[in-house]
Amino acid sequence: MFDRLKSQPEDPILAMMEAFRADPRTDKIDLGIGIYRDAAGTTPVMHAVKTAERQLVESQTTKSYTALSGDPAFIKAMAGLVLGDRDMSRIAGAATVGGTGAIRQGLDLVRLARPDARVHIPDPSWPNHRAIIQAVGLTCVTYRYFDAETGGVDIDGMIADLSAVRSGDVVLLHGCCHNPTGADPNAADWHRIIATLAETGATVLVDLAYLGFGDGLDADAEATRQMIDTLPEVIIGVSCSKNFGLYRDRAGVVLVSAADADQARVVQGNLTTLNRLAYSFPADHGARTVEMILNDSALRADWSQQLSEMRGRINALRQALATALRDRTGSDRYAFLGSQKGMFSRLPASPDEIRILREEHGIYLIGDGRMNIAGLSQEDIPRLAQAIATVCA
Ligand SMILES: Cc1ncc(COP(=O)(O)O)c(C=O)c1O
Repeated sequence: MFDRLKSQPEDPILAMMEAFRADPRTDKIDLGIGIYRDAAGTTPVMHAVKTAERQLVESQTTKSYTALSGDPAFIKAMAGLVLGDRDMSRIAGAATVGGTGAIRQGLDLVRLARPDARVHIPDPSWPNHRAIIQAVGLTCVTYRYFDAETGGVDIDGMIADLSAVRSGDVVLLHGCCHNPTGADPNAADWHRIIATLAETGATVLVDLAYLGFGDGLDADAEATRQMIDTLPEVIIGVSCSKNFGLYRDRAGVVLVSAADADQARVVQGNLTTLNRLAYSFPADHGARTVEMILNDSALRADWSQQLSEMRGRINALRQALATALRDRTGSDRYAFLGSQKGMFSRLPASPDEIRILREEHGIYLIGDGRMNIAGLSQEDIPRLAQAIATVCA
């Protein structure tokens, strides 16, 4: 049996983490894995999470199974967080294993409905998008997205490609804080994107892995909310890994906005079955912690405050790096770092320059130049800027 298996390619991020760990240099800088770090270099358990977990341990009387689609109070709270006070009668939802599980279940739902659907993803995108699309047996195609010259969105190219999408296809969009580029559409761009999608008859899959890391919780959900108001069918994969700092607890939700309440009921049954087939019951601890935070006004305010401090820190790091690079290069070539959103930006560097940064300067980024700005410390910035200015042409 197993002699028929082919070796899987090494995950470039995990391989880089290994190399970073093995590097004895004390001033090495890790810009690879996508986690938030505070000024002390740690990825903290958020205060509200600690408090909610304590309350949960004290108050929980059973660990018996929840529902197949997860704790309904969690799904409702997450739907409220993402969609605001919209009518929920045409929304179906299921708790999932993190945001990855939400994307997986959303794509499996598409496969059940239309096994011949093509899924259009931005170029570039989170590498796992293509991998999951292909793993569920759907066809993956790309649309133009990033303009490497400006560090922004190639909105005309994107609109041209989206106009050609067929009815019955799926268009995957990063709801905010695009990974790996940090380049997000502005309000006018979103308007054009949504109007174009409305004409195509495509179903949209929004990946919301960084809600609250861009401009704020409501601002980051705005484009998704407009899609719900305008388009008949939207799937949303939401992760609680980054904004609740619950990475390893694997909390997430897939929400589906269907054409009407009857269709939403059928979708709900399918999501429940997909959970049953994948893992029966989704994990509960992280989800329940999130639900407790969102449904308690003091915990919610504390969480939202800490999230806004995290966002402020990332934006301050962005500004500091853009300024340090302007000072060292005498140009505005890296000004895009200051205006992009979320944890990531993409350094316009060749594979050779990325190798030199790693070998000669102990600066680790993955092969496509993605940098995790949220993993930096202020102290690293002068050295990082100097190395980039020296190495990158
Ligand atoms: C764009 C994007 N989507 C989804 C995820 C999934 O996150 P998780 O499964 O850790 O919740 C990530 C995580 O890095 C991501 O970057």
